[in-house]
Amino acid sequence: MDNSYNVLIVDDISDNIKVAMNILKENNYNFSYSFDGEEALDIVKTKSFDLILLDIMMPKMNGFEVCKILKNDPLTQEIPIIFLTAKADIESITEGFKLGAVDYITKPFHADELMSRVATHLELYRSKAVLKQNNLDLHVKILQSEKRFLSELEQNQKDIIYILAELMESTSDETGKHIKRVADASNLLATLHESFSQSEIEDIYFAAPLHDIGKITVPHHILHKPARYTEDEFKIMQEHTTNAHNLLKKSSRRFLKAGDIIAYQHHEKWDGSGYPQGLKGAEIHVYARIVALTDVLDALTHKRVYKESWSFDEAAKYIIERKGKQFDPYLVELFEKNIESFRIIIEA
Ligand SMILES: [Fe+2]
Ligand SMILES: [Fe+2]
Repeated sequence: MDNSYNVLIVDDISDNIKVAMNILKENNYNFSYSFDGEEALDIVKTKSFDLILLDIMMPKMNGFEVCKILKNDPLTQEIPIIFLTAKADIESITEGFKLGAVDYITKPFHADELMSRVATHLELYRSKAVLKQNNLDLHVKILQSEKRFLSELEQNQKDIIYILAELMESTSDETGKHIKRVADASNLLATLHESFSQSEIEDIYFAAPLHDIGKITVPHHILHKPARYTEDEFKIMQEHTTNAHNLLKKSSRRFLKAGDIIAYQHHEKWDGSGYPQGLKGAEIHVYARIVALTDVLDALTHKRVYKESWSFDEAAKYIIERKGKQFDPYLVELFEKNIESFRIIIEA
């Protein structure tokens, strides 16, 4: 903001304008003037003003009407208006203030009176504008720091997920590479699925590593048993889903929430024969349906304590055969159509 003020003087008598300008000229204001109300309304559209000195008794449109129009227009309603008039009756003064004028000066007036009143209102107006700008700047700053805080919060969640996945890797049969491949394959499947937003794809990618986090709670001798489970052992093994849910449900944070869904539901099957809840079809969250497919795909193609590894083609055949039974048929379709892209990730 520069230090000069733009002042508009509206009066149908040119001598009145000259008198006002002569008194105020010492202060280096930039003057514009107009002899009638309609013209004044046009001028305010072309230039920004810091103050308007407005006569009341004018032909065509009087000062009250001009004031009313200016105060009703959001673009001009902030400009301070001082009535400068010979109308000194109390009704007119009251009306002037009622219409939103900041001041009312009656003729004849003293030069000092006009100078100091104009100066006061100009400074007040400028201070208000500065305050408004400061508030706006502050608002922008708050928004920026909120954004920074949120992205830091998300980064923290990613770090926690990475640490948890690493921790699990050290106690279970899962390897870090398996977790990475499942995350990559899930990311690919989510990207191929037209209905996900970028942030949902991110949710899946960063939360997929948590799918078996509940295995931390499964006793070591069961987890690493190189033979088939007994019925009881299988029950305990199945609890890795609900145990993860009980841990993760406490968080309302984005990635941990997605991790909760995936860890809880990744052993559900499309036909309802999965565990722990026996959910069916679309009852299973689509995040979990995605990881259910990519997890099995990768687990089959890699060696575990209880089984040898299958070739990618054998595993792909297994997935395709279970379309609409174990797996979401649409996801299997996407998998089939893009099978070579999945091969690259799984065989990496
Ligand atoms: Fe699992
Ligand atoms: Fe897994």
